Amino acid sequence: MRTMKYKCIVVSKRGPPENLQIAEFDLREPSAKEARVKVLATCVCLPDVQARYGIGPFPPKLPFVPGYTVVGVVDAVGPGVTQAAPGDKVAAYLIIGGYAEYVYLRETQIVPFPASLNPAEAVPLLLNYVTAYQILHRSAKVKVGHKVLIIGASGGCGTAFLDLGRLANLRMYGIASKSKHAILAEFGATPIDYRTENFVEVIRRAEPGGLDAVFDGMGGDYVERAFPLLRRGGVLVEYGNPLSMRGLLRALAKTLALDLLPNGRTVKPYGASAFLPFNRKPFLEDWAVLFRLLQEGKIRPVISGEFPLLDAARANALLETGQVVGNLVLVAPELLEARQMG
Ligand SMILES: NC(=O)c1ccc[n+]([C@@H]2O[C@H](COP(=O)([O-])OP(=O)(O)OC[C@H]3O[C@@H](n4cnc5c(N)ncnc54)[C@H](OP(=O)(O)O)[C@@H]3O)[C@@H](O)[C@H]2O)c1
Repeated sequence: MRTMKYKCIVVSKRGPPENLQIAEFDLREPSAKEARVKVLATCVCLPDVQARYGIGPFPPKLPFVPGYTVVGVVDAVGPGVTQAAPGDKVAAYLIIGGYAEYVYLRETQIVPFPASLNPAEAVPLLLNYVTAYQILHRSAKVKVGHKVLIIGASGGCGTAFLDLGRLANLRMYGIASKSKHAILAEFGATPIDYRTENFVEVIRRAEPGGLDAVFDGMGGDYVERAFPLLRRGGVLVEYGNPLSMRGLLRALAKTLALDLLPNGRTVKPYGASAFLPFNRKPFLEDWAVLFRLLQEGKIRPVISGEFPLLDAARANALLETGQVVGNLVLVAPELLEARQMG
């Protein structure tokens, strides 16, 4: 009997988007406690790009299939699987492996996913939105009316902060390039252009009493510059991925030094991939909240492009231009066709 095959996008060499190549694998039966899932949607995010270039303290070993998160439909289950059955829609947070027509999930990786949600619209909730949600509500514990600064406000995580910050009734300031200011204003944030404005002066003028929270995904000297803008008791959450092991150690040392200052302000690091393996429960709770908010129409992920799953190279190239607002999504071709027809 001929073995069925499925396609993945593999990185076998570090470097530009052209290194994302289509490869074929055998479609095997799932093992015990494993589900085979047909991928319906996966996000193209900056961490995928960083992994491909080998940027970061722990880049994946070559060869690897990028793709942080997926939404899909269970195609077959191995013995002992109780969390899902064929036909169920599920989601997963994988870190690598999502740019594929099929993924094999251990039962413990399966995240329940509401059948009524559009996979392409919901897939940003699994990384960018859960990051923003946990930083807002678990790290900074924001309250109505809090004044916050979002550094890197126009990207995948940034627009998740804007959407969830609007829902939480925050007074938001966002740093982004001028051409992307419209989206910040749409969510009710005051945009600041980091190329032509000094954000420190702008915030000092607008909020002389200080900010309640700052969310930084960009690193560099943003932490030192933004920290003094906090009021006493304010918190800065740093979630940008460090570019190397040295960068990670430097960021941790900076956090420690700032936290030792006797001014009541705090810096907190946040890393979804670092936290998830130790405690999955808050993630399952928060994904359920986010899925419900999307079902109720209370949040609206910004998706500026949908590409067929195997067009990952084109989507990655677009992300690398720096022109993208919000999220890019790779979608199973039949889902794209159905949407185009309907
Ligand atoms: N800790 C976690 O759990 C976690 C989770 C997800 C992502 N991350 C990290 O968070 C960071 C952002 O990821 P993302 O997926 O949101 O990236 P993204 O979608 O590519 O967005 C990054 C944004 O940064 C802006 N930017 C670039 N240079 C800037 C500068 N000097 N000052 C201000 N903004 C600047 C860009 O837009 P402009 O045109 O406006 O400059 C872009 O919109 C990355 O380091 C990523 O690895 C961490």
